[in-house]
Parts: sequence; structure tokens; C-alpha cells
Amino acid sequence: MTSTTTPIMLNSGAAMPPIGFGCWQVGRAAIAEAARAGYRAFDTATFYGNEKQVGQAIGDAGLARADVFVTTKVWRNDMGYAGTLKAYDTSRRLLGVESVDLYLIHWPQPDDKLVTETWRAMEHLLDRGEVKSIGVSNFEESDLDLLARHSDVVPAVNQIELHPLRQRKRLVAANTARGIVTTAWSPLGQGGPVLRNPELKSVAAAHGVSVAQVVLRWMLQKQIVTIPRSGNAERIAQNIDLDGFELSPAEVARIDALAN
Ligand code: A2P
Repeated sequence: MTSTTTPIMLNSGAAMPPIGFGCWQVGRAAIAEAARAGYRAFDTATFYGNEKQVGQAIGDAGLARADVFVTTKVWRNDMGYAGTLKAYDTSRRLLGVESVDLYLIHWPQPDDKLVTETWRAMEHLLDRGEVKSIGVSNFEESDLDLLARHSDVVPAVNQIELHPLRQRKRLVAANTARGIVTTAWSPLGQGGPVLRNPELKSVAAAHGVSVAQVVLRWMLQKQIVTIPRSGNAERIAQNIDLDGFELSPAEVARIDALAN
């Protein structure tokens, strides 16, 4: 049975936990709570303004560096070759780590050169062993094509908005075909209609779990990395408590049928 402790292998050779804590709009207390609840991956970004708090929370939890997987992202204002190298150094310092596990381009940009120069800087960091894996976020297929025209290094991850009512099937298939692991941001649909969906409620009732757990378990079984967010201790713990039940192929198919 697929479990939250079985890592997903990236094309860089690194192993990534299938579930991480999304650090957007959450503070140090919630991140510390997540560390206590068993999360070993933390997803932040320069733009979130909380890299320092993420580093502190991991340090406070007394976790060994090798047991933690840290993702951060380069923001638009820092993109370009020199800007990216500088931003990476700042992120490392704020996080208090020697190297980041996964460094992502946060958003694609209309200026192709800005994107390809950013990627060139990230490749340089990868070549020098200063970062373990590099990838992208919010990239469409055309954005992946741009990188492929300029570089032989395939992104390890494409982190996109994805949940049962917005499944991005075509893009997920394109990622997989290229050897790119898909990560879902806001997998719970930001706490909106996804959590009130009748079909998901009925699957949840059948297993005696919450809709959030069904959604996250569905992604775990599909080998899509998830990074749910919560500021509430009970929900933080609930969202990683996914190994006590399994969705049947028919239940997975029912959820698959909810959207494209
Ligand atoms: P809260 O912080 O009060 O728990 P997403 O990760 O899709 O962006 O969703 C985050 C939103 O979903 C937050 O508003 C969060 O609120 C809420 N949320 C997170 N986990 C759960 C859960 N297990 N049940 C209900 N709501 C949740």
C-alpha cells in the first residue's frame, strides 16, 4: 500500500516525501506544529517572506538536516542569471541550510530570456552541487518546451495548482511523459467547494475519514506530491494521517471523473 513515508524519486536521483507542509500564509507556530506532527518536507518561497521562520521551526524541532526536505522558490524580481544566484544565497542564509533540496522558478514570465537565464543559473547551482534538485512552478506545457529548447536539464518537479475539481490531467500527463514529478499546491482547493463536494463526502463517510484526507490520499495513490496548508494543530495532524485507509480503484475512478 502506498504510504506517506515512501518517498517519490526525482529525475535528479533525490528522494522527495510525497507529502509536505505548505508554508504559504502560515507562521512559525504552525510550521513547528507540522514538524511535531511528522511532516518532513516544507515548501516555502522568497515571496512568502517566511524562510527564516521555516528554518527556525525546523531547528527548534531538532530535526537532523538529512531528514528534512526543504523547497524554496525564486521570485520574479530576482530572476535572471546573477539575480538568481544572489537570491539563492539569501534563501540559504535565511533558511539556515547549506543547500536547498529543491529550488523552483516560482512563476513563468512573458520574457523568455529572463526564464532561460534563470534556468541557466539554477543549472550552474546544480552542477556545483549547491542545490540538490531544480524545478519549476506554475509552468504550462509551452513553458516546459521553452526550457527544453535551451537546456538538457529536465525540471525535477512542476508544482501546479491542482485539486479534485481542477485536475489538470493534460498537464500532469505531460509532466509524467517528460520525467517531471507533479506537486499539487492548494490540494484542498483553499478550503472551498472541494471540501463540500457530495461525491468526496460520500467516499469520506465510507472510510470514516475527512474529505481532506480523501483528497490527499487520492493524490498519494496517484503519486502526486501534495503540500496542504493549515494553521490548526488538529487539521495539520489530520492531513498527514493518511496511512490508515486505502481508496479502491473504483473510488479513485469516481474522484478522477469529477473534473478534467
Ligand atoms: P485552516 O488553516 O483553518 O485549517 P490549501 O492547502 O488547499 O490551500 O487549503 C488551505 C485551507 O484549507 C486553509 O484555509 C485551511 O484552513 C483549510 N484546511 C486545511 N486542512 C483542512 C482540513 N483537514 N479540513 C478542513 N479545512 C482544512
